[in-house]
Amino acid sequence: MKKVITYGTFDLFHEGHRRLLERAKALGDYLIVGVTTEQYDIQRGKMNVVDSLMRRIDNVRSCGYADEIIVEDHPSQKIGDVQKYNIDIFVVGSDWRGTFDYLKEYCEVVYLERTKDISSTDLRIERNRSIRLGIVGSGRIAERTLSEVKFVSGISATSVFNPRLSSAKAFADRFELARAFDKYEDFLDNVDGVYIASPHETHYEYARLALLAGKHVLCEKPMVLYENEARELYELAQQTGLVLMEAIKTAYAPSFLNLLATAKSGRIGKIYDVEATFTKLVPSDSKAREYSPVVGGSFTELASYNLLPIVKLLGTKFNDPRFEIFKDNTEVDIYTKAYFRFEDAIATVKTGIGVKSEGQLLVSGTRGYIQVKSPWWLTRTFEVCYENPDDNESFYAPFPGYGMRFEIADFVRNINEPARRNYKLTVEESIAMARVMEKFLQVRKGKS
Ligand code: CTP
Repeated sequence: MKKVITYGTFDLFHEGHRRLLERAKALGDYLIVGVTTEQYDIQRGKMNVVDSLMRRIDNVRSCGYADEIIVEDHPSQKIGDVQKYNIDIFVVGSDWRGTFDYLKEYCEVVYLERTKDISSTDLRIERNRSIRLGIVGSGRIAERTLSEVKFVSGISATSVFNPRLSSAKAFADRFELARAFDKYEDFLDNVDGVYIASPHETHYEYARLALLAGKHVLCEKPMVLYENEARELYELAQQTGLVLMEAIKTAYAPSFLNLLATAKSGRIGKIYDVEATFTKLVPSDSKAREYSPVVGGSFTELASYNLLPIVKLLGTKFNDPRFEIFKDNTEVDIYTKAYFRFEDAIATVKTGIGVKSEGQLLVSGTRGYIQVKSPWWLTRTFEVCYENPDDNESFYAPFPGYGMRFEIADFVRNINEPARRNYKLTVEESIAMARVMEKFLQVRKGKS
């Protein structure tokens, strides 16, 4: 019996998929089809798969050519499958020509001509008219996010807003955006959603006006600096049915999500302590926004990242945090340490723009601890450590580029599928972060 195997995502099952499977089956007597998991697709950069794994498997099954269906969940699985299932022929479409030649050592490799003019990507784009994203602010973070938007299908950056038209125009030229605006209302008229990356203190008003104009909002951290502003924005989003997300990229990173699941699964026992540090030295003589007198400083700049694992792992019911704030000859904190007391756990945040420390995340439990080394906010590898070091385990998932593509993909999914909205950072968690920022600013002001 001649056995054939092929793999694919088979999202929005189409004629190209059907023809490939028909021809694959005709090459032998028994066809095995490997269907990718969502997690694996995300890791290899396919960010906007629409159909669930179950639906994609059902679609492959109902077309009638597959004798067996398996799930593909990691890149090196193919060699093992070819051996395990005694495969004679590996088949894939011609878009992959050459990629799988390494399997020739184990079986015949056949690249079948791809069916012209149809793909899941095109269907996804047709299905949801591409979201026109407007960028508010034109600084470094906006540049980085822009470079990530192109990895996500179903969205494209079309416009930029900056109250200084010359800056908006220069940015639009540099990134080939169709339009540049200095009037916010005109800008909003031309987009479906906004990404806000302006100075912290301007986020609230830009987000509020965007929501009132019926536009979805992805807002850089800290989204706002006062609890009531956060509440108001989320209420507005709920009333208008719009998506509002705080852009903390780590919250969407595959490896960080895996870390949360590992910690919550009880592998390190009951969690008693979360310590998160982020420092980034910025020269104090610079005119950098980090030293802006009212809302600058290490905590407002960096603490959103550190608060993330705390609210995710220990929740939002903590007593008023205690802050130890250090200023240099500047008006803002160059180093802050914040302590959060939970009923039976503690958490610490360390942020510095004038003091350097190891940027690690450490989660301590009754059976062991999880450590992510610097830069933990770009989580790729994390270690689970036990009393006996021989038992230690290491986990890895890629976090490519600047890392924003995952949050952008979630933004798109939440816009396109209102019935399946899923916020990796919840409204309650985001509001708790605003509460911490507010408290911090009060304490810092009291001390100055
Ligand atoms: N395929 C094909 N003809 C097409 C589209 C896909 O022969 N028009 C083949 C692919 O080469 C692959 C299999 O079908 O062997 C599964 O491909 P998959 O990646 O799921 O489909 P695409 O439509 O290419 O998906 P995407 O646009 O998301 O890359």
